[in-house]
Amino acid sequence: MRTVATAEEMRELGAELAGLLRPGDLVVLSGPLGAGKTTLAQGIGEGLKVRGPITSPTFVIARVHPSLADGPALVHVDAYRLGGDLEVDDLDLDASLEESVTLVEWGEGLVEGLAEDRLEISIERGEAAETSEGRTVRLRGVGPRWEGVV
Ligand SMILES: Nc1ncnc2c1ncn2[C@@H]1O[C@H](COP(=O)(O)OP(=O)(O)O)[C@@H](O)[C@H]1O
Ligand SMILES: [Mg+2]
Repeated sequence: MRTVATAEEMRELGAELAGLLRPGDLVVLSGPLGAGKTTLAQGIGEGLKVRGPITSPTFVIARVHPSLADGPALVHVDAYRLGGDLEVDDLDLDASLEESVTLVEWGEGLVEGLAEDRLEISIERGEAAETSEGRTVRLRGVGPRWEGVV
């Protein structure tokens, strides 16, 4: 568990987490609207040295951010609007999964079938936080890939 005081710190945490990420990794971000999922994704994108900007897409559900170095691309998915005509299968995420880092906001309950291993990150607003900026971040690694890593 980590406590994150500001949006800037959330980006720094993302950049730090990027150091753990390898091609083939699936990261599932959960937490309510405004929790800081996209902010964390921006930090991960900076740490991975991928082309930005990473935004909260209005219409685009999945976006590929290619590496500006020679690392993996970041596939950033916002699954908030999935569930109607468009399902997670339609995004064809497994096509890019092996060579990329795939990061899904609002993916819990939707994308677990994509990979045996995944890193789950949940973000909550701190209960007794003095400021509205405080966040609690919990990491949970699922599967052998994450054993002893987080
Ligand atoms: N500690 C913090 N961590 C992350 N974001 C924060 C924090 N404090 C304030 N914020 C602000 O909260 C908002 C989070 O938005 P966003 O990252 O888009 O959330 P989500 O993707 O979870 O809906 C941003 O405007 C950000 O600047
Ligand atoms: Mg978001």
